[in-house]
Amino acid sequence: MHHAALSIDPRLTVAEVDPRLFGSFVEHMGRCVYTGIHEPGHPTAGAEGFRDDVAELVRELGVPILRYPGGNFVSGYTWEDGIGPRDQRPRRLDLAWRSIETNQVGVDEFLRWTRAVGSEPMLAVNLGTRGVDAARALLEYCNHPSGTAWSDLRRANGSAEPYGVRVWCLGNEMDGPWQIGHKTATEYGRLAAETAKAMRRVDPTVELAACGSSNRRMPTFGAWEATVLAETYDQVDYISLHSYYEQHGGDRDSFLASAVDLDRFIEEVVATCDHVRAVGGHRKRIDLAVDEWNVWYQSRFPGEENLDWAEAPRLIEDTYSVADAVVVGNLLISLLRHADRVKIGCLAQLVNVIAPIRTEPGGPAWRQTIFYPFALTSRHGRGTVLRTAVRAPAYETAAYGRVPLLDTATVLDEPSGAVTVFAVNRDQREEVMLDVDLRACPALVGAGHVAVADPDAGAVNTAETPDRVVPHRRDDVKVTDGHAAVALPPLSWNMLTFRPSPR
Ligand code: AHR
Repeated sequence: MHHAALSIDPRLTVAEVDPRLFGSFVEHMGRCVYTGIHEPGHPTAGAEGFRDDVAELVRELGVPILRYPGGNFVSGYTWEDGIGPRDQRPRRLDLAWRSIETNQVGVDEFLRWTRAVGSEPMLAVNLGTRGVDAARALLEYCNHPSGTAWSDLRRANGSAEPYGVRVWCLGNEMDGPWQIGHKTATEYGRLAAETAKAMRRVDPTVELAACGSSNRRMPTFGAWEATVLAETYDQVDYISLHSYYEQHGGDRDSFLASAVDLDRFIEEVVATCDHVRAVGGHRKRIDLAVDEWNVWYQSRFPGEENLDWAEAPRLIEDTYSVADAVVVGNLLISLLRHADRVKIGCLAQLVNVIAPIRTEPGGPAWRQTIFYPFALTSRHGRGTVLRTAVRAPAYETAAYGRVPLLDTATVLDEPSGAVTVFAVNRDQREEVMLDVDLRACPALVGAGHVAVADPDAGAVNTAETPDRVVPHRRDDVKVTDGHAAVALPPLSWNMLTFRPSPR
């Protein structure tokens, strides 16, 4: 057994958690939209064709913001195809995923559904094949009250009130050579700045995210952000970053340390933002939108060039294991620890496509293993992130060198005084006995311990066995003399709760 220690002092704060840290992403890709969230004819489908069983799981997951409609898809998308009478909407080739787009779901349906599941939208505009004009028209369609061609068209299409879409992405992964309309950093930076300028004239209240790097291994990483921000700094509020992780071969030790890579990625982007701020003499600070992140077994994807044209094909429907759930929980811990600069996070994606929720057409919807750490962190990770002192053993990884066996984030709920600790034990064989030092918060008593762990780290949930992997309650959090000693199982994600004594 390993030993580790965590000291908590509620006076040492990092930042308030922005609830939008717990967002997700709906792309017109594979079966995320069609037979995912939307399936007319399904026994649970409502009037607009959206599945109620899926909507219920989305509410349970807790996703305050939903990015839409892509992803790579958006860089070839004509948003006007998806409005108006459904029987008149064109079928189009989606060049990103070699799919047939039927346009049966468009911006009106999506925005109404987003509201129904209790989320806020984050819309991406097409800066691949289109540009300033299409972006400002879409914004006018969504947010202008009435009296113009675009706003009156929205009203004619059934939404009398403006949607008030606040957060917008200026394109998607424009640094990627795979992107339709891929650009150099200077070309993209100029286009993003001009698009942002026009959008702010339509609606000055919007918040805008510029595209950062598609991943930390991009050859342009760092230089891309610096150039794009030099062009856009005064026009944008966020820079995006995307990060996907998978286990390579048998190297689970490195995979379990994926959050170390996300930590480094975030800190490098923050440093670049602040460098551009200093060089340009800017006052405001650019924050980060980690608007695509997850575990994704990309090595199993044959590549879009090898796909056949099809409607709603089964694309990248990864089935997640217990180990994947622990990594997802750990990536959330990384986002929380950086809550001072990361304001938006989008688990990519929401349903079927590398997703916490899976469906079968005409059949059930179920929770994947990764659903649980996400839902629990979204529900209990609200409040103020605390700066803690952690002492833990380290282990050697091929990918990241020597890294801690334990990773944690601690959140204080100021109104109630409750403290929640999220903790991952990365050791595959041994428990970590964690000493939580609570002497700086003497009123707290142990209230609960929930863990995602399993003797079989490869265990998964399926349509036939949807509850094979669920979180387990452990009754082992007792505070004595200002300390709690809690055993974290091997390869586990944990949530420890401490509340003020009722006395
Ligand atoms: O989420 C799947 C894809 O990953 C998105 O379309 C793209 O933005 C990223 O490369």
